Amino acid sequence: MASHHIQYFIVLLMATLFITIQSHSHAKLTPDFYNDVCPQALPIIKSIVSQKLNFKPRMGAHLLRLHFHDCFVNLGGPTYWYEVLLGRRDARNTTKEAAELYLPSQLFNFSQLVSNFKSQGLNLKDLVTLSGAHTIGMARCSTFKDRIYNDTNIDPNFAISLQQNCPIKGGDDNMEALDYVTPEKFDNSYYKNLVSKKGLFHSDQELFNNGIDCESDMLVELYSGDSNVFARNFGTSMIKMGNIKPLTGIFGEIRTDCTKVN
Ligand code: HEM
Ligand SMILES: *[C@@H]1O[C@H](CO)[C@@H](O)[C@H](O)[C@H]1NC(C)=O
Ligand SMILES: *[C@@H]1O[C@H](CO)[C@@H](O)[C@H](O)[C@H]1NC(C)=O
Ligand SMILES: *[C@@H]1O[C@H](CO)[C@@H](O)[C@H](O)[C@H]1NC(C)=O
Repeated sequence: MASHHIQYFIVLLMATLFITIQSHSHAKLTPDFYNDVCPQALPIIKSIVSQKLNFKPRMGAHLLRLHFHDCFVNLGGPTYWYEVLLGRRDARNTTKEAAELYLPSQLFNFSQLVSNFKSQGLNLKDLVTLSGAHTIGMARCSTFKDRIYNDTNIDPNFAISLQQNCPIKGGDDNMEALDYVTPEKFDNSYYKNLVSKKGLFHSDQELFNNGIDCESDMLVELYSGDSNVFARNFGTSMIKMGNIKPLTGIFGEIRTDCTKVN
């Protein structure tokens, strides 16, 4: 795990201490999983996470992205931040190779994105909706370099402004906000950026790309004009994503140290 997840582990380590006492054998994730086995779990997690968020807002982005990766591969870790369905257990194995195999790349084109999500049981609407998570967080220059020097479907002034902190050669770890307008706010600004050709990743802009897909364009336009419908649909798709083959019941384990298997 990357070192910037250290803080996350501190939070989760503490949370896990409480979760460890559970012994239920549920088959599905449920919102009330901890009600009987550990009624204090959620208030405790909530207070620690909000403390950390005050100290470092990007924690929210780390957690959100981690949940996405967790669902697409099996990177372990209980639920957090988006407290919807609870009771997921930790995986006993995962590999870098598995992550590279299952996770989509920011260089993907539209059809590659659609089929990657489809292979996880997620549809076009989920793809467009969940990509809205890129309304918060940061990315390294190396991940969008190709786009700002080579892509045509990008606002030229936006490309030039990004090139200042992301030179053709070097500077690969320089950071840029995924949403340059409101980088720390979970809003619908990501979609407004797409409409004005200011998506940071090639994969982001593919969702609104000269009418390459009518339904995708319409969703981006809908969300860019209505943050409430985005927020509502985001919740729905997050629950769907959270339900991708979670480990429950007797499967997986509950780590005593989040950073390694028991
Ligand atoms: C649609 C396909 C997706 C692609 C190709 C993609 C790719 C990426 C890449 C390349 C980064 C920057 C990583 C770096 O600089 O090392 C990133 C960051 C991020 N992604 Fe995605 N992502 C996708 C979908 C999602 C989804 C579904 C979520 C959550 C629901 C998500 C949440 C995030 C967040 C919050 C960050 C910022 C993390 C931080 O600031 O630490 N992404 N993504
Ligand atoms: C984890 O182990 C199981 C059983 O050995 C295997 O089927 C699965 O592919 C492994 N998962 C990963 C991500 O390596
Ligand atoms: C998307 O990428 C794949 C793999 O590189 C390629 O086969 C396909 O033709 C591309 N699709 C479009 C519409 O460019
Ligand atoms: C732009 O595209 C060319 C040709 O595919 C490639 O050689 C070059 O590395 C790309 N530039 C960047 C900055 O990625």
